[in-house]
Amino acid sequence: MTANPPVNILLVDDQPAKLLAYEAILKVLGENLVRAGSATEALELLLRNEIAVILVDVCMPDLDGFELAKMIREHPRFQKTAMIFVSAVAMTEIDLLRGYECGAVDYVPVPVVPDVLRAKVRIFIELYRKTRQLENLNAELERRVEERTAELALANAELERRVEERTREREAALAQVHEMQKIESLGQLTGGLAHDFNNLLMAILGSLDLLVKRLPEEPRTKRLIDNAIQAAERGATLTKRLLAFARRQELKPETVDVPRLVGGMMEMLQRSLGPTIEIGTEFEPGLVLTRVDPNQLELAILNLSLNARDAMPSGGRLLIGARRGTAEDGAIHARPARDFVRIRVTDNGLGMDEVTLKRAAEPFFTTKGVGKGTGLGLSMVHGLAAQSEGAMRIASRPSEGTTVELWLPTAERAEPKASVEPIFATVGPRQVFRVLVVDDDSVVLSGTVAMLEDLGHTVLEATSGEHALNIVRSEPDIDLVITDQAMPGMTGIALADAIGELRPDLPIILATGYAELPRGRERGLPQLSKPYRQEELASLMAVSLGQQGRRHVAKASAVA
Ligand SMILES: Nc1ncnc2c1ncn2[C@@H]1O[C@H](COP(=O)(O)OP(=O)(O)OP(=O)(O)O)[C@@H](O)[C@H]1O
Ligand SMILES: [Mg+2]
Repeated sequence: MTANPPVNILLVDDQPAKLLAYEAILKVLGENLVRAGSATEALELLLRNEIAVILVDVCMPDLDGFELAKMIREHPRFQKTAMIFVSAVAMTEIDLLRGYECGAVDYVPVPVVPDVLRAKVRIFIELYRKTRQLENLNAELERRVEERTAELALANAELERRVEERTREREAALAQVHEMQKIESLGQLTGGLAHDFNNLLMAILGSLDLLVKRLPEEPRTKRLIDNAIQAAERGATLTKRLLAFARRQELKPETVDVPRLVGGMMEMLQRSLGPTIEIGTEFEPGLVLTRVDPNQLELAILNLSLNARDAMPSGGRLLIGARRGTAEDGAIHARPARDFVRIRVTDNGLGMDEVTLKRAAEPFFTTKGVGKGTGLGLSMVHGLAAQSEGAMRIASRPSEGTTVELWLPTAERAEPKASVEPIFATVGPRQVFRVLVVDDDSVVLSGTVAMLEDLGHTVLEATSGEHALNIVRSEPDIDLVITDQAMPGMTGIALADAIGELRPDLPIILATGYAELPRGRERGLPQLSKPYRQEELASLMAVSLGQQGRRHVAKASAVA
């Protein structure tokens, strides 16, 4: 008949002959015919099988058809099962209504007309099949909805996880930015402070130097002054480290071969670290060169090694290594992307807890106690790296050790050494010059004036660039100008440019406490870094005036 699997039709009658007759009629439908000789048997079969249609005889001895129908309907599983009553008697209107109330869906009168019975049963089987199909469809739909819901829940969970992850990343990035801003403002603060201190130390040292010369030779006085000089010199070292942290130290970058530089430091390191610390090195073969101030890099490596020593009070192992790294290695943001030399100093000492690690690079942060650490070592290293367009990274775990990495930009080939370094010449036979000194800081100004006068020179003073220009205009016989760089209104370089217009041959020395000299080097002005001492001043003057002398000669011979 159909491709559908056969369904069960339950035939209920107490008379076997009638059951046989129904079977004969319904066989052609191709469904399963299940027989029950009593209401009880019918109930049993119903419970064990899935029945599509029930054909019930109304008159049965133990339980009549109405009662059986009622019981069937009461069972939750069979509330919609189609029941057709077969009856010869009890076919009054009232009986029919009672039958419907009990759950009958149709009646077939006796004698049964085979075609009518088949047609009715077929309709209900059809209905049963359609209902099942609908139910299946519904179940499938529900299954799919559930499946989609589960998928959505998964996607949602994934989304939430990602949002959380992004939030965490953002928070971490913000914290890092915050940390960097803090370090940046600390840098500005310390930079300004260090600049002022530099000026003061300059005046103190200058005055002390002159005092030494003037005081009568007396051991106790000399000791006191030496002491004061030493203290001022230590102060100058501190301000240098502060300026380094603030990225305002004067750097003289060169192309540096790191393994060679470290190699040259080994003996000194071994001596500073003592016999309980074993020093090892690990350099990538054929490592590229880097560009950095070699003296400052040595100082940085020394600072890191001393930190390592302090973290290994009962000895340990220090490893200094270097390899090539790219900005993509994640630890550094460089625009444009460039390559770096990653120098690392590793120890297996006490390590740092989280709080120490977070604050380690802050200036003045130290765990070493008053008088033992200044808290400027890592600050200096950080400043050097940043000023050299690199970075410093610290990784540390308590009782496992510490690794500090210094990222410095690579340099592809060696460059000739810059030739603007001051060459300290010895002062020749004493000559007397007219020198114009320019500084907006009166303490520094009078310190320099005192040094020059002590050397026997005649000194003119100016407290600003404009003031100095007026003097240059009105005093044609000035031999040399010494000017501060950082002055309000007109900087030292601007002043040098303006003097160049008036008197191109007048030698000028730039005194600086900062690295902020965008054009200083280009112009090739000799530089004095503050705080400077009388000997430095004298020897640089000798060089400047000497070159000037040679220039005069060269000019004269060219004319001749
Ligand atoms: N290798 C290291 N192992 C463990 N802790 C370290 C290490 N390097 C630095 N620290 C911690 O970071 C702090 C700051 O170091 P930093 O070098 O800036 O200053 P310092 O060593 O205390 O003093 P200074 O170097 O000025 O004499 C140290 O006091 C110490 O707590
Ligand atoms: Mg230190």
